[in-house]
Amino acid sequence: MRDHQQETISRIKSLCRDHNAIILAHNYQPDIIQDLADFVGDSLELSVKAAALEEKTIVFCGVRFMAETAKILSPDKTVLLPNANAGCPMADMADAESLRRLKAMHPGAVTVCYVNSTAEVKTECDICCTSANAENIVKMIPPEREIIFLPDKNLGANVEKATGRKMILWPGFCPTHMRIVPEIIIQRKKEYPEAVLMVHPECVPAITAMADEVLSTGGMLRFARETAAKQIIVGTEIGLLHRLRRENPHKEFIPVSANAICANMKMISLHDVLNALENNETQINVPEEIRVKAKKPIIRMIEGKIDL
Ligand code: 13P
Ligand code: SF4
Repeated sequence: MRDHQQETISRIKSLCRDHNAIILAHNYQPDIIQDLADFVGDSLELSVKAAALEEKTIVFCGVRFMAETAKILSPDKTVLLPNANAGCPMADMADAESLRRLKAMHPGAVTVCYVNSTAEVKTECDICCTSANAENIVKMIPPEREIIFLPDKNLGANVEKATGRKMILWPGFCPTHMRIVPEIIIQRKKEYPEAVLMVHPECVPAITAMADEVLSTGGMLRFARETAAKQIIVGTEIGLLHRLRRENPHKEFIPVSANAICANMKMISLHDVLNALENNETQINVPEEIRVKAKKPIIRMIEGKIDL
């Protein structure tokens, strides 16, 4: 590691101590940010962690909806998103006004929203889910109720396939996972005929149908630890390879595509984290009226209970 990087890291650590701050990072963050963080996890693990922290300040290295979720759960803490431009294009594909119109067309429907959504959209939802628990959440809903699922049509279609439950799907998608196409999977399988293929449920159903395992990023890390397979093809954002390789040095991980990069997840640099702590930037705030309403579906998800 270069000297100036080491200096920046030391400065960040000392500011964290002074400010009683903790650094959380998503599994897709740049390697150096994952190494710096106090806790690295998938969206569900990060939400659960954020809800139970002692520290006064959370530096959230991820994208905006994740930092917003932390603020919704911990309004008295300062939540910093080190790069204000780090958003999630999929979350921005759903807006509260259009959702209200869709709900009016389906009175009585239960609205399930992926945490990859804005705080305002969450206020219109009954329960949240992540890719780790979407199937279980949908299974909790009484069979006679219609379900609106948003914003990811691919996660929704994969949940439909796994549960046999038909849902009304919002037309959103993750541009990063849409870059994973069948031709590239066929190619990788030819190159590594012995390898197991795991993919993220944000991939289109044609891709998940080709996979041995369909898992959240946290699920992929667990599977990689537990499987006897020595070669694993990884169908998700390439940031996950860092932990996969570090935690399993005797296994080989092959990215499906080196193009599966989420530009937003890669926006946060060491310099941004230092700046965030030095200047208390960028603070994430959610208006109280929105926060209170948005908290309900997140808590239902974390507790795994829905009282309809
Ligand atoms: P998970 O880490 O929950 O699998 O989420 C993937 C993702 O795309 C987050 O934006
Ligand atoms: Fe959003 Fe996809 Fe990036 Fe996750 S990987 S933050 S879903 S665009």
